[in-house]
Amino acid sequence: MPATNPAWKQLILGQLAKNIKDVKDAAYVQLSTIRLDGSPANRTVAFRGFAAEDHAEETGWESDLLLFTCDKRTEKMKELQHDSRVEIAWWMSKTGDQFRIRGRMHMIERGTTDVVKDHIAPKQGTQLSSNASAPTSSFLARLKHFAHSVGKPDFSWEAERLRQWYKISDDLRATFTWPHPGKDFEHNGRFIEKLAIEKTKDDGWFSHSDQAQQSLLEEGYNNFVLLVVEVDSVDYVELYSMPCKRRVYTKHNDQWDTRLVNP
Ligand SMILES: Cc1cc2nc3c(=O)[nH]c(=O)nc-3n(C[C@H](O)[C@H](O)[C@H](O)COP(=O)(O)O)c2cc1C
Repeated sequence: MPATNPAWKQLILGQLAKNIKDVKDAAYVQLSTIRLDGSPANRTVAFRGFAAEDHAEETGWESDLLLFTCDKRTEKMKELQHDSRVEIAWWMSKTGDQFRIRGRMHMIERGTTDVVKDHIAPKQGTQLSSNASAPTSSFLARLKHFAHSVGKPDFSWEAERLRQWYKISDDLRATFTWPHPGKDFEHNGRFIEKLAIEKTKDDGWFSHSDQAQQSLLEEGYNNFVLLVVEVDSVDYVELYSMPCKRRVYTKHNDQWDTRLVNP
């Protein structure tokens, strides 16, 4: 069973917290994949936290899986289906940290169930606090049906995908209904600006009184994919120390090994 709270994870979260207040771009990282012809591909994506966790509140779960979102129609999906190896380069400019994170990407789409679940564990001693932030508390309340709340024995990827679908902005949600990414520009394409979730049904499912909006929500949700990185190594450089400090975390038999190396 992998540890869900390795030292490098605490380091990333701690350094990110120091950066994000002043540098809003600190959560954007460069994600590399391997194209079908073997050449490298690279793009910017937004880090959305560790899977199953929430920056504002305890969810009752913890993991060591970095989480991103993407549209299932994008090129990176084909690349990842062909070769799941990835590298992330992350520069935090306020504190002068670079993280190079290597691992394997797992795609959580409609119907995905038993993927890397051994990387998610109930967080010991967690209680939903009474001062919990309203949105997150209501997520948990809505998602009870999907066994995603504290004390439930199982973690559900479908519930996590739904939770993330609620969490994204109306602007970003709308893009999942846009014409096929990467294809020739559609001058008369349907590029809606916002897609709001009007209501949540008792079973946690989203609903909209307008049937056309509801169809868009379902179409967008179908294209909405969680990308989670199972990390194999982390290469961390502190650029602002003199001389620079460089530490490499590597996993061997589910144990993390740390080495100080020359910068
Ligand atoms: C600041 C910024 C943040 C982005 N965040 C994401 C993201 O979280 N997920 C994503 O799929 N694309 C994101 N993109 C778009 C990607 O960089 C890329 O253009 C798109 O995903 C298509 O890439 P692909 O063809 O390699 O799949 C972002 C772009 C920028 C500039």
